[in-house]
Amino acid sequence: MQLGQFVSQDWAIGPAEVLVRRIDIEEIAPESSITISPAHGSALTAAENEVWQSLAPGSSRQHEWLLGRLALKDVVRAWAAERGHLLEPSDVEIHLGAEGAPFARCVALSGVGGSPVISLSHNSGIVVAAAAEPGSLIGIDIEYADRRTQVVERALTPMETNFVTAEAASVLDLLVAKEAATKALGVGLGGAVSRWPVASVTALAEGLLVEVYSASDPSLVLPVLVLHPLDTVLGICYVAPDIDAA
Ligand SMILES: CC(C)(COP(=O)(O)OP(=O)(O)OC[C@H]1O[C@@H](n2cnc3c(N)ncnc32)[C@H](O)[C@@H]1OP(=O)(O)O)[C@@H](O)C(=O)NCCC(=O)NCCS
Repeated sequence: MQLGQFVSQDWAIGPAEVLVRRIDIEEIAPESSITISPAHGSALTAAENEVWQSLAPGSSRQHEWLLGRLALKDVVRAWAAERGHLLEPSDVEIHLGAEGAPFARCVALSGVGGSPVISLSHNSGIVVAAAAEPGSLIGIDIEYADRRTQVVERALTPMETNFVTAEAASVLDLLVAKEAATKALGVGLGGAVSRWPVASVTALAEGLLVEVYSASDPSLVLPVLVLHPLDTVLGICYVAPDIDAA
């Protein structure tokens, strides 16, 4: 890979305020994880290279981790490019918060409003990364539509079961919405499906609007756009910056 290239593709999907990019894993790494590792190393910072080397060589986790970093760097670079700032992948540092939420740090953006907020999700074939303006909340989740959901189904609230019975949403739609909402708050679902109840499901032309109550603050309702591109279910939670808090 030459510096400056994007590994991911733009994915024009979801709210206009959110930039989404995707990597189709088969397209860039059809053989195995090992084929992509040396070629993409130059995209990483020294600290990221250390993490990369600490992961089991050739493991699926190492592969997934690298693709996630590349997708996140790409989405930050694309977001910056839209604002006239051209960045190399190694200009963008990806860090994790205390609970595992990724965030970007980029010196070149610090004097011009800061780095965008970011979110990441991967399944076995696709990596998706999202970015939105600093101060907003963003959470993204993608699953294959045939993912098994029996365990999740047993954890649904009576209202959620009603949504499923009435075919307003599938169990997977609700799970994806919860994952995206919890990621937007930087906490992650961690299997606590019932602690994040769905408040409402509304059919839209392009998919569903699923509102999820925050587990820690029931007065906070997180809107998640749930879409069904091809054989996947994609959830994007976006909350604009609170201008009163600025
Ligand atoms: C990790 C978690 C946020 C998403 O898991 P997931 O849906 O299986 O995986 P996804 O691929 O969609 O998302 C993984 C990415 O979410 C991001 N993430 C991790 N913790 C996060 C958090 N607290 N907030 C926001 N994003 C987070 C990371 O970037 C991670 O990718 P990385 O490890 O390569 O950096 C969340 O569900 C969780 O806490 N899982 C713990 C595992 C668990 O309890 N599983 C039981 C499910 S029944």
